[in-house]
Amino acid sequence: MKIIILAGGGGTRLFPLSRDCYPKQFLHVIGDKSLLAQTIERFLGLVEARDIIIVTNERYIFHVQAELKTINAQEAHIITEPMGKNTAPAIALAQCYCQNVLQCGDDEILFVSPSDHLIKPIEVFQDLIRNAQDIAKDNVVTLGIKPTKPEIGYGYIEVEKNSNLAKKVISFKEKPGLATAQEYISSGNYYWNGGMFMFSIATMQAELTKYMPAIIDITQNGYKYTVDNFVNMPDISIDYAVAEKSQKMMMIPMENIYWNDIGSFDAIAEVLSDKDKNVFKGDILAENCIDTMIIGDSRLIAGIDLENLMIIDTPDVLLIAKKGESQKVKNIVNKLKQNK
Ligand code: GDD
Ligand code: MG
Repeated sequence: MKIIILAGGGGTRLFPLSRDCYPKQFLHVIGDKSLLAQTIERFLGLVEARDIIIVTNERYIFHVQAELKTINAQEAHIITEPMGKNTAPAIALAQCYCQNVLQCGDDEILFVSPSDHLIKPIEVFQDLIRNAQDIAKDNVVTLGIKPTKPEIGYGYIEVEKNSNLAKKVISFKEKPGLATAQEYISSGNYYWNGGMFMFSIATMQAELTKYMPAIIDITQNGYKYTVDNFVNMPDISIDYAVAEKSQKMMMIPMENIYWNDIGSFDAIAEVLSDKDKNVFKGDILAENCIDTMIIGDSRLIAGIDLENLMIIDTPDVLLIAKKGESQKVKNIVNKLKQNK
């Protein structure tokens, strides 16, 4: 089995901590290690570092190298895309690398993981992957999470009800609108997609040939050709390219596993908060604060009688927001982009 870690996304939902040039996977905001380093460690023990392939954008290579060093995993492979084309081309490139460079056979199992999530405990997660390997021989396996709210940033998976480890996927809907997400939640038959996929090289090759031949047209010419012609790849995520269409999707629920995709400052507050629901990271002096998160490491920050606030301080940008509203950070980022 090879582990493919997708570390090329440039999300800015954690602006101003994350930037286009320094996205979420490299942040050291939860624990001492970056989310990427924690992701890689999650697979050590299951495989060796040399069985891990990190796919990233050319401009992040030094960040990835630095993170590998922090956990002594320099034997992991780093492959780079000249430009971001979303996750389907990134996965296809990694698959091509496994075939052409690592000489993997068609029956090699690949486990694809995002690089910016929090998942624990590691042992339960690793057991689940071990148990899933057999099912992944002839299917595209995805891991599902019982939804708690109509989140519109996730994919939704409808499954056949049975008590087996893996459930047949009836339908997969990537990022539905709010009304649809609400319907899905009420029906009780849907799971969130955790963004992880497990399959054999042969199966993904067949599914891409069927549903995204434009990708195979490029990868069939070998790894070097694929990198050189990456600009011609369609820009599409694996969720739209394969998961929504494939008849070979199976879902395994992530039971007894905590999953958080750290998609907002509210998610960080959820993970880190103490009994007063406070999170203080950096040089912080707080008087009578409740339900407040203050993160900043470039100066002393003092807070008095604060409630329900998030204060994120960086050398050039200070963000102050009401708790519960952190998804709106993307509106600020959009405004900044328009002003450029
Ligand atoms: N190498 C590479 N190249 N990696 C990429 C690229 C790319 O062009 N684009 C995104 N990634 C990486 C991101 O860094 C992240 O680790 C992972 O791929 C998933 O991409 P996101 O952009 O974070 O996807 P998403 O969060 O909008 O949606 C996915 O994850 C949800 C769960 O968090 C989907 O799979 C949803 O269905 C799912 O619910
Ligand atoms: Mg994500």
